[in-house]
Formats: sequence, structure tokens, C-alpha cells
Amino acid sequence: MFAKISTFLEKVSVLIKGGGDEKIALRKKSGLLTARERINSLLDKDSFNEMDLFVEQSGKDFGLDKQKLAGDGVVTGFGKIENRPVAVYAQDFTVQGGSLGRMHAAKIIKIMDMASEMGMPIIGINDSGGARIQEGVDSLAGYGEIFIRNTLNSGKIPQLSVILGPCAGGAVYSPALTDFVFMVDQLSHMFVTGPKVIESVLSEKVSSDELGGAKIHNQKAGNAHFYSKSEYDTFIQIRKLLSFLPSSWNTEVPSTKPLPPKKKVKLAGIIPDNSRKSYDVKEVIASLVDASEFFEVQELYARNVVIGFARLNGESIGIIANQPKVKAGCLDVDSSDKAARFVRFCDAFGIPLLTLVDLPGYLPGVEQEHSGIIRHGAKMIYAYAEASVPKISLILRKAFGGGYIAMSSKHLKTDFVFALPTAEVAVMGPESACNIIFAKEIREAENPELMRQQKIEEYKEKFSNPYNPASKGYIDAIIHPDETREKLIQAFEVAKTKAPAHKSHKHGCIPL
Ligand code: HXC
Repeated sequence: MFAKISTFLEKVSVLIKGGGDEKIALRKKSGLLTARERINSLLDKDSFNEMDLFVEQSGKDFGLDKQKLAGDGVVTGFGKIENRPVAVYAQDFTVQGGSLGRMHAAKIIKIMDMASEMGMPIIGINDSGGARIQEGVDSLAGYGEIFIRNTLNSGKIPQLSVILGPCAGGAVYSPALTDFVFMVDQLSHMFVTGPKVIESVLSEKVSSDELGGAKIHNQKAGNAHFYSKSEYDTFIQIRKLLSFLPSSWNTEVPSTKPLPPKKKVKLAGIIPDNSRKSYDVKEVIASLVDASEFFEVQELYARNVVIGFARLNGESIGIIANQPKVKAGCLDVDSSDKAARFVRFCDAFGIPLLTLVDLPGYLPGVEQEHSGIIRHGAKMIYAYAEASVPKISLILRKAFGGGYIAMSSKHLKTDFVFALPTAEVAVMGPESACNIIFAKEIREAENPELMRQQKIEEYKEKFSNPYNPASKGYIDAIIHPDETREKLIQAFEVAKTKAPAHKSHKHGCIPL
């Protein structure tokens, strides 16, 4: 017995060194963690249980038969975050560059299937040279089988991708199919075609960071959702994110002890009287939510719309808000995509939605029209219309035109639409409206400017208030700013028992 145990321990001690001491030393020199260190830093202490440590590669060509690739270059298993089970895998760059061979893929597929059946989040740590070239179509097959699972598990269990090294070629499509992508400055790189290929095909020189670094994907391309300066910061972000999510689509969203907002900021004091002046909607959020804590998603991308998670009276909610500080909070191509995707994620996982409205409409201009604002804007309307979780909106100030409809209006089956007394609901702003509908009167007036001002005042009197839509039942209640948090808590309580939507057909066709 003892001899067998010592053989076992010997084998384990070799295997857990992955590519061996030399390669690990090289990583340490660059300040990088090993795959197992990453998993252990992410999970609750001592909670990781590894699977398939003894799996061997199946590839035999181009010298692979003479090598032993420990665990086939990926560490997989189960552990806990805040005492809740999660499945996790981390590619081990010290083993053949973390490249994906047939058995490497089989290990990932196994835990994906188990996570799906058992109903828990899966976190994939990507650090790989991509498809293992020596294994040819077998490695491509492996990717395909991961992609189909990413797709079938979508909306069923939360899927998180952490990029902690290269993620190149078709390999990027697994993270792209998951719900949230985390990237670290200088360390994470994602691209379909790398710098060397670009140089040879297009004769353009570009660095990995410029092409697909953490900043590019978080700020510009919109492929990533979280940006951080270090691996450790990323692990903290992941743990925080999971605290707002259920383990699967049909389990309860975790709730916490209710806490009052930290800041004693008065909502009325944040929103300027002059509707042309901007303000930071994140201050509004801080004045409403528990402990004033807002966990923002895609903070650096399409900043004219703010999305993220918070708690209201201890319950998780997803918040979508126009940001008047950026492009006056207008909806454009990117912000419509950002909001639509978030609404669908929250809907899939039973997280109620709070929408804060203050926008002059869709962003006007040739660039937006040519970029497909019609199609992208439609995604957002579709997402809100389809969402069957409790939906509450609060009109803070402007709700003009198509923006009024799209931002969780009553017409899209929003359960409760509230407005502050400062709300203005109209087809468009007073100035533009009067220039169109009173063009003749203004032109022919003795004093055109005076006439214009008179007409603007008339228009404001009629439309720049919440009473007109409230008189038609399009706004359910006009509320005093000081009572906002309480009213929202009560409304979410009422909507909690809302029955989920029943589908009468296979699925709709969202205008992607
Ligand atoms: C097999 C690979 C590999 C791969 C790296 N290695 N990538 N082995 N298949 N795809 C091996 C190297 O041979 C080397 O082995 C070790 O991993 C470390 O690699 P280095 O090149 O020494 O490291 P570094 O200089 O840090 O460069 C890392 C890298 C580079 C940028 C990732 O290796 C690289 O460009 N690799 C190829 C990336 C790529 O084009 N992949 C295919 C994409 S297409 P030794 O034995 O020397 O330690 C694709 C299709 C998927 O993935 C389609 C899915 C649908």
C-alpha cells in the first residue's frame, strides 16, 4: 500500500509542475502566476478539487509522441467562490504554450457539461497559443465542441472568460460566446489575426497591445467587459460579479442584508433645473442603491449609457441608465448594443431591471445612420420588449422621441414607470420642434425671434412635464425625489411574483 501511495505522490508531484521547473521559473521572472496559482488565487482557500490530472495527449505526430504533456496543458476542476460551487479551467502556458489539443478540449468539455447539468457558473482562464498545430483537425474539432457548449449553456449558467495571456485565432470565439470577458492591462491579448499575419498580409506594423490589448477591447471594440491592472484585481472583480448572480437560470438570485445608501446626497440636488446642464447619473445611482455600491459593467465602452449591478433592499438588480455627461446620454449604435445585451443577460438569469431615463433621443448624424443605428437601436427595443423579469423605469428628466419608447417605456410592458416632477416627455426638444411645426408663423411674424420664444414656451407648457403622459396612464406615478428609493423598493417587491413569459413558438428573430 505505502509503495503505491508513494508512486502516486511522485506522479502527482511531476504532473502539477506542468511544463517543468525551467518553464515555471521563466514565468516567475515575468511576474506571472502559474495556472494552478491563478485558480487558487481566484477560489475560496483550499476549495479547489482538480479533475483529470492524469489525462494524456492523444496527438502523436510531429514529435508529440516523444513528449509527455502534463494534463494536456489545461487544469480543470471545481471549487467555491463565497462558498458557492463553480467550475473552472485554466490553460497552462508552460505546456506546449497552452495550445488546445484533442484531450485538452475534452477536459474543458467535460467540466462544461458537468457545470451545465449541476447548475453552476463556469470560469475559463485563457492563456494559449491557440489550436495545437501538430494535432490538425482534432484541435479544430475541440474548439467546435467548446463553441457549441458555450452556445447551448448561454442563458443557462453564467459563463465567464478571463484572458491572462494570448488568445488568438478562432480561439477568441469561446470568450466571445460567453457572458463576460475580463482582461488585464499589458497581459491580455485577443485577436483573430495576429500582428505577424497582419504585417505579412497588409504590410502594416502593429503591436499586440494596439491590436488587441485590454484597453482596445474594453474601450473601443466592446469585446471585453472588465479591465484591470493586475491578475489579482481581475480575480476580485470576478468574485464581486458572481455575488450579484444566481448559480444558474433557475436558482434564486442571492440576496444580502439591506443597507441604506452611503451618501446622504439628495436626488433633487443632483439633477440641475436647467435641462441643458449635464450631471453624472452614477451619483443618482449612488443615492438610490444599497451602500451606494454600483458594480459597473463595460465602464470604458459606450459611456453614454451606464450598465451594471447593484442591490436594492438587499436584492440584486441590473441598472441601465443614460449618462447625460457623455453625448447628452443619447442612444447610439454602441450604447444600444451594450444595453440590449445586458438586458438579455439579466432577463435570462431572473435579475430585475431598473432603467433611469434622461435622453434627448437617438444620436443624430450621417455617421450613425450609416453605422446602422436603425438595426442596433432595434436590438434594444427588442431586448426590453422581450424581457419578462420585473422591469421598472424612472424618468429623471428628458425622455424624447424614440429614446422615450426604447428606454423601458410603459408601451414595452414595463411593470412600473415612475417620473420625477422634473420629467419632460415629448417627441423632440422644444427648440427643434418649434422650428418645424411653427416655421411659417415664425417666418411671417413681425418679430420672428419673439414669436419663436413664445412658441417654445407654449410647447414647454404643453409637453415639458410628466403630467401629460401621466394623464394618459403612460406614467404610473409621479414621485417626490426624496421618496424614490422607497418607491422603487416597494415596486420591485410587488413585481417579484410576476409570472415568467410563456413562449408560444420556437424563438423570435432579434435583429442582430
Ligand atoms: C503548438 C504551440 C502553439 C500552437 C505555441 N506553441 N503556440 N505549439 N501549437 N498553436 C508552443 C511553442 O512551440 C513553444 O514550444 C511554446 O508553445 C511557447 O511558445 P513561444 O512561441 O516560445 O512563446 P512566446 O514567444 O511567448 O509566443 C507565444 C505566442 C506564439 C504569441 C502564442 O507562440 C504564437 O504566435 N503561437 C501561434 C499562435 C497561432 O497563430 N495559433 C494558431 C491560431 S489559429 P516549446 O516547445 O518551444 O516550449 C487557431 C485556429 C483555431 O487557433 C480555430 C478554432 C475555430
